[in-house]
Amino acid sequence: MARSVEPLFNPSAYPIELLGGRDIGAGYLRGCGLEFWDLYPRLENDPVFAEALGAAYARGSLLHPHKLANLYLMVRYGMRDEHGSIFEFGSYMGGSAVFMGAILKALGRNGKVYAFDTFEGMPETDPVRDLHRPGDFADAGYQQLLSYIDQQGLAPYVQPVKGLFDQTLPGMLPNIADVGLIHIDCDIYEPIKYLIDTTFPQLSRGTYVVFDDPLFSSCLGAFDAVQESVIRGFNLTAEQAYPHLVFRYPALR
Ligand SMILES: C[S@@+](CC[C@H](N)C(=O)[O-])C[C@H]1O[C@@H](n2cnc3c(N)ncnc32)[C@H](O)[C@@H]1O
Repeated sequence: MARSVEPLFNPSAYPIELLGGRDIGAGYLRGCGLEFWDLYPRLENDPVFAEALGAAYARGSLLHPHKLANLYLMVRYGMRDEHGSIFEFGSYMGGSAVFMGAILKALGRNGKVYAFDTFEGMPETDPVRDLHRPGDFADAGYQQLLSYIDQQGLAPYVQPVKGLFDQTLPGMLPNIADVGLIHIDCDIYEPIKYLIDTTFPQLSRGTYVVFDDPLFSSCLGAFDAVQESVIRGFNLTAEQAYPHLVFRYPALR
């Protein structure tokens, strides 16, 4: 039975329904709204979403439009501090990063998207656990991404952080205090375990932690990392299962 999605568009309505440390009400409305109801066609008429989608397509993104829509709803309406920043791990051509940066710009937010990637393709992967191989996604076009960010006036909103996560993240951890959303889209086991175990203890405000990959048939290593570290390690239950696995940390009260 369809429920009204109106509370999703009202930041003061959050949490919509709390259970077990996550906003299960918001998770249901975003997930069912996108999968079964008419939430996506509604968003297509929203000029901020449409412009950000244009940026994602201009750079190229592997994300399904429902995933971009889900990020939009969390960034625009759900983040506890609307001026919070965003950490993205796995940016490739920068599509999802410039998408979120365009939202921050259009809304006049103070936050920034830190887009972490080698921008030279996948590092070592686990030959059994992961399907991806070293060098996948090597055609990121890093220089073109920098030019695009400059030309579109996105430099105050999107900062690429080039290199392996375990080499770049330690220097950026002081910036994590105001992070409202972490988008993990790097597909493979080891880095995802590292990112969960390194970032979670630094979070303090019910940050959205959004996993792109675990429910893909090609990313069982990503699912392993989430099961081991998020579910068994930090004892969390998911806020949402479509189109992303979304968790909140620390748990909401
Ligand atoms: C699926 S792509 C990201 C897609 C992107 N979010 C989009 O909008 O299309 C995964 C990316 O993760 C990056 N990656 C995986 N492991 C990494 C690591 N340990 N350090 C840095 N980048 C990594 C790869 O270089 C690749 O570009």
